[in-house]
Amino acid sequence: MTDERLPAILARHGQSEGPLLPILHDVQRAFGCVSPEMQREIAQALNLSRAEVHGVVSFYHDFTEEADPRPCVQICRAEACQARGVEALMATAEAAAGNRVRLSPVYCLGLCSVGPAARVISERVGDTLHARLDAAKLARLVEAA
Ligand code: FES
Repeated sequence: MTDERLPAILARHGQSEGPLLPILHDVQRAFGCVSPEMQREIAQALNLSRAEVHGVVSFYHDFTEEADPRPCVQICRAEACQARGVEALMATAEAAAGNRVRLSPVYCLGLCSVGPAARVISERVGDTLHARLDAAKLARLVEAA
């Protein structure tokens, strides 16, 4: 059972064109996840099958089915950032993260010309984008998340 936030999100986007992704983003932001129960409610509200909603939730890395309260650092693993050396930074990021910070791969943050790029989402630093990362900068970001 969800609280009144989910009906409010559904009502806010109900009349808009292609409301599924905006709804999922708002639900993820509000609850920290899009649980199977929420997926069922969203599917019912949009007259979609549960499988359609689940397919979108499972396709995009932005959405999770269970809440994870840890700070999150999304590290771009797409081609431009790979060409700029992101893979060589991953061992450092993983060591800095330990179990305290969740590292999540993303596939483009819109900072391709200034990669490697990362996005930090945490209570301490909010939601911030970072570019031109090297191992030391990425380690500092992860430790500060
Ligand atoms: S490829 Fe990494 S930001 Fe676009």
